[in-house]
Order: sequence, then structure tokens, then C-alpha cells
Amino acid sequence: MVGARPQFVKAAPVSRALRRNHEEVLVHTGQHYDDAMSASFFRELEIPEPDINLEVGSGSHAVMTGEMLRRLEPVVLEHRPDGVLLYGDTNSTMAAAIVASKACYDGGLRPWIAHVEAGLRSFNLAMPEERNRVVADHLADLLLAPTETAMRNLQREGLGDRAELVGDVMVDAFAWASERATGKLPEVAEEHPGYLLLTLHRPENVDDPGRLAAWIAVLAGDRPVIFPIHPRTRAALERNGVSLPASVIPMEPAGYLQMVALERSAALVLTDSGGVQKEAYLSGVPCVTLRTETEWVEMVEAGWNRLAPTPELVPGAIAAGLSGTPAAKPPLYGDGLAAGRIVGAMERYVERRAARGGHAMEATVR
Ligand code: UD1
Ligand code: UDP
Repeated sequence: MVGARPQFVKAAPVSRALRRNHEEVLVHTGQHYDDAMSASFFRELEIPEPDINLEVGSGSHAVMTGEMLRRLEPVVLEHRPDGVLLYGDTNSTMAAAIVASKACYDGGLRPWIAHVEAGLRSFNLAMPEERNRVVADHLADLLLAPTETAMRNLQREGLGDRAELVGDVMVDAFAWASERATGKLPEVAEEHPGYLLLTLHRPENVDDPGRLAAWIAVLAGDRPVIFPIHPRTRAALERNGVSLPASVIPMEPAGYLQMVALERSAALVLTDSGGVQKEAYLSGVPCVTLRTETEWVEMVEAGWNRLAPTPELVPGAIAAGLSGTPAAKPPLYGDGLAAGRIVGAMERYVERRAARGGHAMEATVR
């Protein structure tokens, strides 16, 4: 199950590994649908075309989630997968978890649920993603955690016995793309060496016009800032008449290979994205996170990432980031072999059930 941009990135290496020995039916909810937010990722990451697209599109949380539930249930009942594999923390993730957890096949069986990127927590319940993650983790049968921090979070919630540390599959995707990113740097980046790279899309940063304008205003100055704009943010800028200073150079959402090239050549990354924080680290580029907290605390602890909870704190954080990076860059997110471990964990999960005399699927909770 996939639906939004970061899930396409995570699914790419897993899908490749899974299809070596198993059958995958790839279902796209249609949460993201613009070519630049969806199809371009399938092309560039060489992900097979989705077998099914539910074409849910945009809407309020309840409308989007409700449509996903309604459209996904018949698909699950028709295809009768042994297991359902979920990624991350979007509305698509939560909807798939709910449907799979209550689907009922003949004989009272349901698919098992495996959750990639389990155990992430911001402890900020105002984030829709935090709700989605908690629901997905508690409904899933196999929790595939990217970090020790995530493992501890799962243990604290009583889910440790379902959890396995596999590393972060975004490292696999990033390594694959890095080998293919040569020549992908856009001209605008070539023309502005020493640029900062900006992404901004969290509702708490962009939906409030004053706050959005403040994040942008603080970036006016001599240093060029390249800004691939998420459609939520573009709509908010237009709706509220927020104009960009000359130093902030807008572009369409970047394709994945272009994004990896942009990250690797940036002097510093400014972002509220989870994935982009990690890719900055993998690029060896300092990062300033435009949020009060991060789920990926390891990079902050290691001195590669600084939190800037309010716009006034951004100039100081940029200056500190540009003053030099830590000498050490440990493999905080694993070795880039997470996809194989994820498939292995699912295979062992099924074997364990068989050894206990169980069916490959789970018994339905009635
Ligand atoms: C979603 C996820 C978020 C993730 C992000 C990745 C939820 C609750 N949020 O946020 O966790 O970090 O994706 O990018 O699931 N839009 C388009 N074209 C598209 C997609 C979206 O124009 O292809 C516009 C629509 O106006 C839409 C808005 O963007 O209303 C927001 O899209 P939505 O999927 O609701 O949330 P994201 O902010 O993308
Ligand atoms: N990304 C991209 N082009 C962009 C912005 C992001 O290819 O213009 C990629 C980025 O490299 C990362 C993923 O999208 O792999 C992160 O998705 P996003 O920031 O939308 O969501 P989050 O990670 O915060 O959930």
C-alpha cells in the first residue's frame, strides 16, 4: 500500500526485493496524484506501475480516510493477500491498517500487517502523522523499526515483542539514486553555488499565513535559497498573497533524482520534511529543521541537525550549521540493506506462524 510521495521512495527498494521471490499487488490510494508528486517517482525509481489506483485524491482527513476505507476493502477482499505492507505515517497508511485489520476472508482469516518505519514518534499529538503512526503500529502484526529509538518507543507502548530493527529503507533508496544522480542538478543550482535548499509542507508551518510569511521573510538576504514547492505550500502562498524575496528561488516539486542531486550539492538544507532531514545527513550536508521537534533525534544528538522552532531562530541555526560539520558521521540509519531485511523479517514471521501450527494469515478479530 502506498499513496504519498515519501512512500513511493520507501517502497521502491522493498518492492524490488519482495518481487524476487514473492508476488506483490501494488495498491496506490491516489492521495498524491500530480505527475511531479506521484508518477515521476514511479518512473525515476523504476517502481512497477500500481496494479490498482484508488484515485482518492485530496480532501479533509475524514473525507480522504473514509474514501480510502470504502475503496480499499473490496480490493483486499478480492485479492486476498496473505499480508499487507504499510509504509510511514500518512492517511493512506492508517486507512490501509484499519481495512487490513478487520478484513475477513472465508474461514475467519485476515491478512497480517507489516509496518515499515514503525515506532517513529514526535510526541506532538497535534500532528496528523502522530495519530496515523500510533494507529498503524497498534494494529500491525510485524513492526519494522528503522532505529533503536523507534524500537524503544515500541517497547514503551508494549509492542516490543512484535518489533524488529531492520534499519531505514530510505538509505537503500538514497544509495540507489545517488548512483544515478550525476547530471541531474538543475541549471538554477549550477548557477548559484553555495545555495541553501528549502522544503516546507507541514500544515503547522504553511497553513497559517503569518507563519508561512515569517519562514520565508527570514530567508531574504544574499544567500540563494532553492525552494522546490510542495503543492500544499504553493496553494497557501497563492491564497495568501505571500511573495518570495529575490534570494528565494522557486521551482516545481523536484523529481527524486533531481532532489538527491540538489541535496548533495547544497551548502545546507532547511526543511520540515522527515525524509529530507535524513537525506541531508546521508549527503553529509548540515540541516536546520523548521520544527519544534523531530522524530529523527539521532542527527540532532550527533550535531548534524539543528531545530529551529520559530523563524527568528533560523539565521543563528544557519550560521551554526555553516560554521562546520562534526568530524564523525556514523551510520545512524543503517547500512542501506534494509529492504532485504524487511523481506526476510516477513518470511520469518510467516515461518514462525507455520511452526506454531498457525495459518499464514491471522485469525480475524471478531
Ligand atoms: C501528506 C502526509 C504527510 C507527508 C506528505 C508528503 C497525511 C496526513 N499527510 O501531506 O505526512 O509528509 O504527504 O508530501 O497523510 N496536492 C496537490 N497535488 C497532489 C497532492 C496534494 O495539489 O498530488 C495538494 C492538495 O491541495 C491537497 C494538499 O496538497 O489538499 C495536501 O495534500 P495531502 O495529501 O492532504 O497532505 P500533504 O500535505 O501532502
Ligand atoms: N522529495 C522530492 N522532491 C521534492 C521534495 C521531496 O523528491 O521536491 C523527496 C525527498 O527526497 C524524500 C521524500 O520526497 O525522499 C520526502 O517526502 P516529503 O518531504 O514530501 O515527506 P516527509 O518525508 O516529510 O513525510
